This record gives sequence, C-alpha cells and structure tokens, in this order.
Amino acid sequence: MSIQNSNRENWGSKLGFILAAAGSAIGLGNIWKFPYVVGENGGAAFIIIYLICTAVIGLPVIIAEILLGRTTQRNPVGAFYALSKSKFWASIGGMGVFAGFVILSFYSVVAGWSFGYIFEAINGVFNDFQTPQAAGQHFEALVSNVYWIVGFQFLFTLVSIFFVYRGVQKGIEQGSKIMMPVLFVLLFILMIRGLTLPNAEKGIEFLFNADWSLVNGQTVLMALGQAFFTLSLGMGAMMTYGSYMSKKNSIPTSAIQIIFLDTLIALVAGVAIFTAVFATGQDTNAGPGLIFHTLPVVFNKMPGGYIFSILFFILLTIAAITSAISLLEVITAYFVDERKWSRKKAAIVFGIVAFVFGVPSALSFNVLSDTTLFGLTYYGIVDYLASNILLPLGGFFIAVFVAWRWGFDKAIVNLKDGAGELFAKYPWMLLGWKILIKYLAPILIFLVFLNSIGLF
Ligand code: PFF
Repeated sequence: MSIQNSNRENWGSKLGFILAAAGSAIGLGNIWKFPYVVGENGGAAFIIIYLICTAVIGLPVIIAEILLGRTTQRNPVGAFYALSKSKFWASIGGMGVFAGFVILSFYSVVAGWSFGYIFEAINGVFNDFQTPQAAGQHFEALVSNVYWIVGFQFLFTLVSIFFVYRGVQKGIEQGSKIMMPVLFVLLFILMIRGLTLPNAEKGIEFLFNADWSLVNGQTVLMALGQAFFTLSLGMGAMMTYGSYMSKKNSIPTSAIQIIFLDTLIALVAGVAIFTAVFATGQDTNAGPGLIFHTLPVVFNKMPGGYIFSILFFILLTIAAITSAISLLEVITAYFVDERKWSRKKAAIVFGIVAFVFGVPSALSFNVLSDTTLFGLTYYGIVDYLASNILLPLGGFFIAVFVAWRWGFDKAIVNLKDGAGELFAKYPWMLLGWKILIKYLAPILIFLVFLNSIGLF
C-alpha cells in the first residue's frame, strides 16, 4: 500500500479546511448538548473540567489525528495500517468507523428536531408560547409523534447524503464556508438578547461560579466525553479531513484555530441559553429538550423574534449538517479507499443504513421511552457508548499509537511540514506536545476510565 495517493481530492484552500473542520466540530454538540450536559452536571465546575480536558487532551489528540490523516492520506483503517502493517491497529481505525456510524444514527434524530423546528418557526407556533411550560409541552407532543420524529430524521439524512455525494470541495467545503460565519453572528445576537433579559446574572452565575461538591468520577468522564464529542475526536473524523489537507499548511495552527472556534461557540451558546433558562424560570435539568423548551420563549419575547427563530433553526440545522457530513464521510472514505466502492454508492448505502439503525433512537422518545437498560433508553445507551466510551478510548489509542507505536520522532518529522517556522519561533511547542501526547493524555484518559467504572 503506497502512502501517497495522488488521485485523492484536496481542500481548495487553507481556510476551506479550517471551516470544514470547524464545521465538523461545531454542531449540536455545542448548541444543543453542551448546555444541557452542563445543566445536568451542575454548571461551572463541569465547564472548568471540560476546558481542562480540551486543552490537555483535546489539543494534543486533534493534532495527532490530523497528522495521521495528512501523512497517510487515508481513512482511519488505512491510516493505522499504512503506518504499522498491523491488523490490531487497523481494527482501532475500524472502531472509529463504527463509532462514526453509531453517532450518525442518533445525531440525525436530534438534527431532525431542529429541521422540524424550522417549520414550527415559519408557522409562527412560538407566538403562542407565553410560558416555558407551553413550549415544553409542544416539544413533548412533537417528539411523541412517530411520523414527525422519524420523518424529519429521514429528511435530514437525505440532506447529509447529498453533500457527501457531491464530494469534498463542492459539497463539504462550500457549504461550510458560507454557513459557519453566519451561524456565529446569529448566536452572538442571541447571547446579547439573553444577557439583557431579567435575571440574566443568575444564568451567568450558574455558568461561571463553580460548586465542586457536585463533581465525581462520572462528572469527569462526562466532561471528557463532551470534549471528545464536540471536537469530533477519537473516531477519525479529523483524520479523514486531515487526509485531504495540504502539507504546506501548519497542523498545530489549524488545531488551535479549530479548538478556539469550537470552545467559543459552546460558551456563547451556554450564555445565550442559561440566561434564558433563568429568565424564564426553568429547570436546568431539562435534558435533551432544554433548548427546545427555552429558546422559543425567548424568541417570543424579542423584537424580530419571528425572523430570528426561523434563522436560528435553519442555522442550527446547518451546523448539524456540517457535522453529520463528517460522520458519513468517515464511513464513505473507508469504503472508497479500502473496498473500492464509488463515493456515491457508499454515501447513499451507509446514509440509509445509519438511518435504519437510528430509528430505535427516535422511538426512545415515544413508544420505546419505557424500555430501558440501566435506567437508559436505547438512545441513552448509544449516546453513552459512543460519546463516553468509544471516543475517549479511540483518543487513547490514537495518542498511544502516535507517541509509542509509530514513534514520536517520525511523527515530528511529518508535523514539521508546514509548521517549520512556527516551531523555530516557539520550540517549546514541540516539547509541550511531546509531554502531552506521550504521557499526560493517555494516562489521564486511562485514569478517568478506571475511576468511572469504580476502580479507585
Ligand atoms: N462535533 C459534533 C458536534 O459537536 O455536534 C459531533 C461529531 C461530529 C462528533 C463528528 C464526532 C464526529 F466525528
């Protein structure tokens, strides 16, 4: 297997890569999941642990992932195999492809809610919501409707297939370039609206005033899982996007830019939503329905709320699309590289298969809501399995592979491509990455695991 692959598509520009990778990172994980996971895990202390996980584990691992992709120009299975010729390591790549499939299956369900809410907004449904209870009841009624929830899940899947079908530059890159900046502006406006609502300071206090008594091993695992999920790490999405990247561009600089944008968006979304939660006197513990219970009431109360509500759900849906595309792209790249399928066939077949496996996740909010294992619905289980187990485990193996199996010295030679000047100016960066990727990241992930299963 040759490492260079000249027929492979590439990103059209450096900015194209950054926006596509940020498009993968920024999605439901920031605007929908982050606020409710923060709400369920006690607020500020959780955020601090999440930020530490991002800096100490997320940053070195995202660099490692992009580097593996760019060096080998392959999908995760092919990337591990090309550098190790080992079946074991190829199967770690396979675990990533599987995780992508699992995430795509439930991600499309929630993205479908956002899609469906575009039409609720257009129909002016939010005008009737004077109280969060009314908004909450409306949300519950919608997700209880099997046709609504599965229907929009299906429509969302079709849209994601469309972009992957069109290819890297024409589909993924172009879409991200237009929509990401607009999303940011809108969220910023919503944050300002949140901050000017009555009781906004209570929301800010909840977000930034830590109560450490709520923290335990499980909280740390959730924070680690969130850091991996929101950065699209541990399953080869960044590896696959890195495989289309030019060697002229600097990986560490790109990684820092992607993490900065992703973290900023999560925090801005947190402020927009928790100021609204406290202003409307709602429970921070509302779980997956949180933003659907709060934002409609905020839109109702703000000037121009009708237009903003439509724009917001369009953009949330688009943020979800740019992430779902990266999930489907991992599976597609695997079947294209390793099984010689056409891109079009792989995108269609696995988009549909992921939809079918996602149906029980959709039904977890209605007919299967009482069918639970360890207190979790099917949706709860696949989400926990993927976000809190498979992604951190994948991240652990990526760090161990780069630092110990492939070898740090070889990794460095490749990392210097495009980043020579940066390392000449800041030589401590190399040492920093070495310490993090070789020791700190794998050890910390391992300890968090042991702790969460009650081993110490
Ligand atoms: N990072 C995405 C989000 O925050 O919504 C979710 C995601 C996309 C996770 C791609 C993993 C992935 F490979």
